[in-house]
Amino acid sequence: MRALFLLLFATFAIDAAVAPREGWKQVADLMVNGDWECAPSIAIGAGGRPVSLTAGGSFTAAVQGGTTLRFTGDFSVAAEIESSVTANTSVISLVSRAASGPEFWRGLKRIDMGVSGNSVITYYWMGDVSNSTPRSFAFPGGRPTGPVRLELARVGSELVFYANGREAGRYTDPGLFSSGTLNWGIGAAPNTTTTLTSMIAAAPEANNDVALFDPFSQKAPRTGTGLRDLASARGFYFGAATDTNELLQGSLLPTIGREFNMLVAGNAMKFDTTHPAPGRYNFCRGDQLLRFAETNHMRMRGHVLLWHNQIPSWVTNGTYTQAEATALMKEHIETVVGHYKGRLGWWDVVNEAVSDAAPHALRSTFWLDKAGQNYIDDAFRFAHAADPDAKLFYNDYNGEGMGGKANAIYTMVQGMVARGVPIHGVGLQAHFQGSGAPTQQQMSDNIKRLGQLGLEVHVTELDVRLQSPTTPEKLEAQATVYRNVMAACRANANCTAVLTWGVTDAISWIDSFFPGYADGLMFDRQYQPKPAYTATVQEVTQMPLRPQILDGGAIIHAGLEGNVSPGSLADLYGARMATSTFTAPSGVLPTELGGVKVTVNGTAVPLYYVSPGMIILQIPYETKLGTAQVKVVTGGVPSLAVPMKVKEAAPFILTYGANRGIVQNSDYSLNSAENCARAGSFLIVYMMGSGPLDGAVATGAPVPLDRVYSQTLPTKARLGGKEAPVLFAGMTPDLWGLMQVNVTVPEGVSGDVELRVDVGEEQSNRPVVCVAP
Ligand code: XIL
Repeated sequence: MRALFLLLFATFAIDAAVAPREGWKQVADLMVNGDWECAPSIAIGAGGRPVSLTAGGSFTAAVQGGTTLRFTGDFSVAAEIESSVTANTSVISLVSRAASGPEFWRGLKRIDMGVSGNSVITYYWMGDVSNSTPRSFAFPGGRPTGPVRLELARVGSELVFYANGREAGRYTDPGLFSSGTLNWGIGAAPNTTTTLTSMIAAAPEANNDVALFDPFSQKAPRTGTGLRDLASARGFYFGAATDTNELLQGSLLPTIGREFNMLVAGNAMKFDTTHPAPGRYNFCRGDQLLRFAETNHMRMRGHVLLWHNQIPSWVTNGTYTQAEATALMKEHIETVVGHYKGRLGWWDVVNEAVSDAAPHALRSTFWLDKAGQNYIDDAFRFAHAADPDAKLFYNDYNGEGMGGKANAIYTMVQGMVARGVPIHGVGLQAHFQGSGAPTQQQMSDNIKRLGQLGLEVHVTELDVRLQSPTTPEKLEAQATVYRNVMAACRANANCTAVLTWGVTDAISWIDSFFPGYADGLMFDRQYQPKPAYTATVQEVTQMPLRPQILDGGAIIHAGLEGNVSPGSLADLYGARMATSTFTAPSGVLPTELGGVKVTVNGTAVPLYYVSPGMIILQIPYETKLGTAQVKVVTGGVPSLAVPMKVKEAAPFILTYGANRGIVQNSDYSLNSAENCARAGSFLIVYMMGSGPLDGAVATGAPVPLDRVYSQTLPTKARLGGKEAPVLFAGMTPDLWGLMQVNVTVPEGVSGDVELRVDVGEEQSNRPVVCVAP
């Protein structure tokens, strides 16, 4: 009894480090969704816990430029912190408005709450004077040693401060949170450490106006007729480079989301950003961009692993043996590629390694000089080992046509292919001047010869800068260069993507890097399409239509979500995916049906039904968990691949009508509003997305009769909010991927009630089922 009590108590203490107070609810877990990596001065410690430490003056840093809390009415932020020195000051910091200029305080609206000695301290800035207003209270009951729970709540017109669950004090809100939004951070006094172990946002039960806002999870409005839509229908990628600070400007976001089906990070994945200190990595900005890309069904290229620019001085100032430089390179590549494994389809592994001047030898760079002649081969091998599914590119400029540098690049990659180095493509940067770009023929010839080596080509950084002032004639000449690039690409099947280096002339590297030049992109400074856009659209439109899986069109069978599990059926929605309608005969499903194949991570999968607009397939039991790539190949012509999330289980209760579960009552009749189940009877629930089975079933084969008792992961059901005991959870014999779960209808529920069946850790959808009164 005593042992059990202690055990329960211990578990409780860990789970409930910070919980909302009585009558309040948690609206966000800021430890998990806090974007903590985006506060550059806060390190991420063991177990992903943000740590603030100072060697010198006292220091507070808040997460900026990412997820924020938005609210009206009452809300609170509660946290648990550990402080390295009990006698010293540790704080949580809430910033509701950033400073507006070089002085840290002007415009700043911020409040810090923390502990100092035996006091709960608060101090706030309102943006008009540099000094903060301090207010402190005795720590209720005296400050204990060990972690401290702090909560700052806005309640009506007051700010209320709690420490370890008890009110420490309150005062009138000076108007700190009038912006309706806040960022969070932590701080430490000199020579101390503050570690955050838990942080949540909470609100009174009745207040539904408190929520996280992630600017990078916004869905951009689509027209269906943007460049991206034209490209996707033709199995082609048209992309753009951007950065998080650009997307945050807001005006760029709709244009990017509407026009491009591919994205590349202008800077966010370069060495200096991802690897700012020895052994320390930061993926904040790259992760944010990828979040935006995935939310908007864009694929992302990785740029760039090794380059001579934008490497931090801790790298270039170090002294290395060749083995040490190679080890550094290996660690960097493994960590960065590994971080994005399965999510980035392509990587620029090495950038600009070939000299501009004849004889175009390898450029003297940190990597060549320290890691030696084999550094390029090595880099590709390291990257391939870290993500075997990513296509690896060598990327360079001034090698687009057939000149000496292009020849040197060709010879170099030819050697790599001959040596069996895992290289899959060449990126042609294509930073052109209005006059002086290579001809369409030259570019086409170069793309063709690379294709003969078995390599793909991406035009990776297209822009066509114009000598100022820009005139209508120059814009027409620029459109011709865009047209030539597109035509050269269109003429060669191995040219699979074109990306511009930016979106709008309002935000471009050209203005600062090429004085006297400007306006190289397809959209002008008012985000209006230029002649270059029109020319590009005309060229893309002339590419042949191909089978296409619509964005978000790979989902669990009969469901809505892109989560599937091994063995379950999945649906593809698309266009031109088959010439007609075909259904598989009973028995083992074929992997080719009506001239259609579907591949999941390159493997042809069993097909149940194909038609031009919809396909039903089975996810192989062998599919590894994580992001899988699905592709339709119709009469030998492939679509673009779309990503799909493969989870251990993806429970989805089949539905009919307006969200009614496909559920049989005990007499095997379909449950409906007119045919309700009785309490105490059992229901048979039909679902997709079972977990792994304890008796193996061959992919494509119907579930054998003797496998009816195959159990899956622990399965729990709830009906009308009450537990519905599970009598059986397994597969339906003679069908593919159909799970059935028998549950007992609990007492005390009636009418149309919500049904939910969770398998393992995964929650199901929540259709309704009728229970008789
Ligand atoms: C540029 C970025 O656009 C700038 O913001 C940054 O200051 C410097 O780098 N070739 C490349 C790109 O491969 O990474 C470069 O991007 C442009 C030239």
